[in-house]
Amino acid sequence: MAVLNVNIDHVATIRQARRTDEPDPVWAAVQCELAGANGITVHLRQDRRHISDRDVEVLKQTVASKFNLEMGLAEPIVRIAERIVPDQVTLVPERRQELTTEGGLDCVKHKQRLAQVVKRMHKKGILVSTFITPDTEQILASAETGCDAVELHTGAYANAKKDTVMEQCLNALADARDTGISAGLIVHAGHGLTYRNIAPVASIEGLCEFNIGHSIVSRAVLVGMRRATEEMIRLIEQFSKKGV
Ligand code: PXP
Repeated sequence: MAVLNVNIDHVATIRQARRTDEPDPVWAAVQCELAGANGITVHLRQDRRHISDRDVEVLKQTVASKFNLEMGLAEPIVRIAERIVPDQVTLVPERRQELTTEGGLDCVKHKQRLAQVVKRMHKKGILVSTFITPDTEQILASAETGCDAVELHTGAYANAKKDTVMEQCLNALADARDTGISAGLIVHAGHGLTYRNIAPVASIEGLCEFNIGHSIVSRAVLVGMRRATEEMIRLIEQFSKKGV
């Protein structure tokens, strides 16, 4: 059965709109956990546009479920991960100009750096996942560098307007799932997933963890974090089958 990690970055985005102290992502994390979330995900970006160093430190102490830290490969951030020791890191590409993470990490191009970071994370007992497009070469590069998991980028699926394109994207995700599992990797998925488009992705057997942020936080503004999280968990459970 697939599980949900709630990405709470955009709770911090609302706080940063006024550079104040509310809403506190730490409080949001508690609500997600009370709703039954498998984990809490935050992205500590180099520009600190939403999540701050303080958030990561307090969340490390307070998250009782899985604490998944999204991060780029930049040395200062890698050092923070070594100090904080989250349960898992998800390695992502990071460009300062982007609104959100665009594209996957190029694990082929950055293979050497990736292998170093994986080794350092493993030394601390941290699970390592890479956020990648559902391509064979990216999956194999992740496996070769010693990663434990890959998170398949579902953005192309989420942005697809035509049914035929959506179908192609779903097939690509299922193929990537097969390649990942054959390479010994745990397979996660995320980006752009919403209450409306989650069903076909949750139905892909063997995808075990979803990272969902914007859609849940958006709904939470209207119905509360706990209910928004519960509603997404219900959908994932309804459509996901037992993992392969
Ligand atoms: N997974 C990764 C690796 C991401 O970078 C993001 C966005 O921060 C998400 C999942 C969540 O995407 P969304 O906010 O579109 O649900």
